[in-house]
Amino acid sequence: MIDRMRPRRLGMVVGGSLSEGLVVKLDPAVSIEEMAVGRYVSLQGETRRFLGMITDVSLASTDPAMASNPPDQSDPFIAKVIAGTNVFGTLHIAPQLAIGADGLSPVRTIPAHFTQVQEASEEEIQRVFGRDDKAHFYVGTPLDMEMRVHLDLQELVKRSNGVFGKSGTGKTFLTRLILAGILQKGVASTLIFDMHGEYGWRGKTEGPYEVKGLKQLFPSKVFVVTLDQESTLKKGIHADFVVHIGYDEIEPKDIETLRETLNLTDLAVQACYHLERRLGQKQWVSRLLESRDREEVVQLANEVGENENTLGALWRRLQLLRRFGFLVPHAREDSVHRILEYLDTGKHVVLEFGSYGDELAAYILVANLITRRLHDRYVERTERALEDGGRGAAPLVIIVEEAHKFLNPDVASQTTFGVIAREMRKYNVTLLVVDQRPSGIDEEVMSQLGTKLTCLLENERDIEAVLSGVQRKSELRQVLARLASKQQALIFGHAVPMPIPITVAEYGSPESYKALNITEETMEPGQIEKEIQELWGN
Ligand SMILES: Nc1ncnc2c1ncn2[C@@H]1O[C@H](COP(=O)(O)OP(=O)(O)OP(=O)(O)O)[C@@H](O)[C@H]1O
Ligand SMILES: [Mg+2]
Repeated sequence: MIDRMRPRRLGMVVGGSLSEGLVVKLDPAVSIEEMAVGRYVSLQGETRRFLGMITDVSLASTDPAMASNPPDQSDPFIAKVIAGTNVFGTLHIAPQLAIGADGLSPVRTIPAHFTQVQEASEEEIQRVFGRDDKAHFYVGTPLDMEMRVHLDLQELVKRSNGVFGKSGTGKTFLTRLILAGILQKGVASTLIFDMHGEYGWRGKTEGPYEVKGLKQLFPSKVFVVTLDQESTLKKGIHADFVVHIGYDEIEPKDIETLRETLNLTDLAVQACYHLERRLGQKQWVSRLLESRDREEVVQLANEVGENENTLGALWRRLQLLRRFGFLVPHAREDSVHRILEYLDTGKHVVLEFGSYGDELAAYILVANLITRRLHDRYVERTERALEDGGRGAAPLVIIVEEAHKFLNPDVASQTTFGVIAREMRKYNVTLLVVDQRPSGIDEEVMSQLGTKLTCLLENERDIEAVLSGVQRKSELRQVLARLASKQQALIFGHAVPMPIPITVAEYGSPESYKALNITEETMEPGQIEKEIQELWGN
């Protein structure tokens, strides 16, 4: 049994530099096979301790002839003598943080020759990542270590953040875990654009359990609203309300962000603006969509002075919108307003797309439209609050999957998502973007993301995109490329004092909810209904 309380000695520093990292000679008693890339070690210098990450492991020998003329391994005595003297393992360590009497500081120097290296201790990891408290939430364990890493969620939500990783690596599980933390700690309201129905009531899984969605864990804090009542009901979920969006709420800008998805030409996009100028915001979409045939479109084109073919092409492409049952000429109720009211009471809203989740155009249209209007409200309020010297709106985090659709270089300058990512937390709204193709996201947006949580990525361009601008990039690249294909993530950026690869906390088994300290709320029957009544006064 390894004594977990006393960190094991691994070896000593024999060379290296601040920029290139340290070279550590491994003690003969330590098996090199255990020394995986991404593990944390501690180095006791004269005046401070250093924490560093293993970024490479290699075999060395003092005698070059050894390679061509290996010693006789059949004699255990000789083998033992040679191991550790003539041949030995080395670790490559990237120093990440110094712990001195005055606390944590960035590394500006390195420990001397022969400094002892040992496994990082639980106390050191806690010193850096904090303990479970009102802001810190348990997210996982360092690789191959049995200690808890906590994430400061209060710091996290101050900026926009990203969860990345190729398909099936655990992005959604990690995102849901972070959300459970945000809900538990109450550090922000959240609005989740739940494309595939994974956050609200239950999540999909390859594992043996049905995993609970946020509504099951925090019934009184979460409202599930849907665009597709039928599919939501089929899953046995009672949605808190059904979202309808009126044609009169759609702006040319919303159609513009669909340019790529609907394959619209520049002229078609310009025609939207033209129509809006001529017919007014309330009328332009209905007039166009309610044209029944080519003839009526030609009439409309003549009326507003638009090219018939351009308008005809736009009309054809926008026919898709007519299939979206949640779009109506005029919505009786202002859904965005209602969502805002939930968020204002500190609640969380999961917007289920139901069968429209497979329809990218629906996802982009709705997420953009709602986010644009919410953002307008937050800006208005923050500005008013500034004038009155009052408090602005409570922080809001918006969760969006397939983020590159909203934030690719072609549209990031126009979409509200792009605006939010760039303006930091000026108006108390931030994003949590989830994406398997980070190279598709605008570079400037990527550089504005505060904290990145990235599962395994294999595509070179994606790796480059997430690591762009970080220190010790080449070393982190080694770590990132070697994450397990599931449930491991490298976290770096604003909310963590140093980068750390973790095994993401398990989510889904009955024990896991206990380990996460998510005590299930016991909800009185009818409590939600009562709350809604209170909210709406009817
Ligand atoms: N923290 C975790 N706890 C338990 N199981 C996990 C965890 N992370 C990942 N898994 C397992 O890995 C599977 C894939 O995870 P997930 O659905 O989050 O991947 P993803 O990156 O969102 O995939 P996609 O790109 O297809 O959306 C899950 O169904 C689950 O079985
Ligand atoms: Mg997913």
